[in-house]
Amino acid sequence: MTFEDNISADFSARDADAGVDPRLVTRWSPRAFKKVSLSDSDLVTLFDAARWAPSCQNAQPWRFYVSTEDSFDQYLSLLVEGNQVWAKNASVLCFVVVKKTFEHNGKANGFAEFDAGAAWMALAMQARHMGLYTHAMGGIKAAEITQALALDDDHKVVCGIAIGMAADASALPAELAAREKPTPRKALADIVFR
Ligand SMILES: Cc1cc2nc3c(=O)[nH]c(=O)nc-3n(C[C@H](O)[C@H](O)[C@H](O)COP(=O)(O)O)c2cc1C
Repeated sequence: MTFEDNISADFSARDADAGVDPRLVTRWSPRAFKKVSLSDSDLVTLFDAARWAPSCQNAQPWRFYVSTEDSFDQYLSLLVEGNQVWAKNASVLCFVVVKKTFEHNGKANGFAEFDAGAAWMALAMQARHMGLYTHAMGGIKAAEITQALALDDDHKVVCGIAIGMAADASALPAELAAREKPTPRKALADIVFR
């Protein structure tokens, strides 16, 4: 399903080269969410997009633990308080977990988190395609999540993701509302070297 996205955001801080795919430049991470319910079919589409990310030796080390209506509050409680304030209005919360070793030889997979990053970006772009937004969160209670999800030593929780429909910034506490806009980026010269 496609969700109607009628929030307006000020992209003036984003000075992308004219040739860059605008879908990349206009993806951003709002904190103001409007509670809508996502169907199982929406969720399948979102996470199927993540499935198509590339990974070292095609190991696909990413695992996504996704809240249901019943477990939403428990997932919310596993975020740091500063994230709970706004993430409570997301439709779905999810924890990204990686398998730390390769299945075929049991050796450490040093690229698991890199690959999970690619999968998260695919999910984020699919969400935008559907009129939805995502917001990744490093501010999570990792030890408590590990326990709640009964993760073994071969799995590591990396981050959380809030998924939902964006709302007007006025839905946020004033301090967060003031920060509710697409962020700039470092200059290309600071990150690319020839
Ligand atoms: C791994 C990761 C962890 C993040 N952790 C948090 C967080 O705990 N709380 C938060 O509000 N935003 C968090 N963010 C959002 C970033 O601040 C945001 O992506 C960054 O400022 C770039 O802005 P944009 O996503 O709007 O382009 C996180 C993003 C990533 C990728």
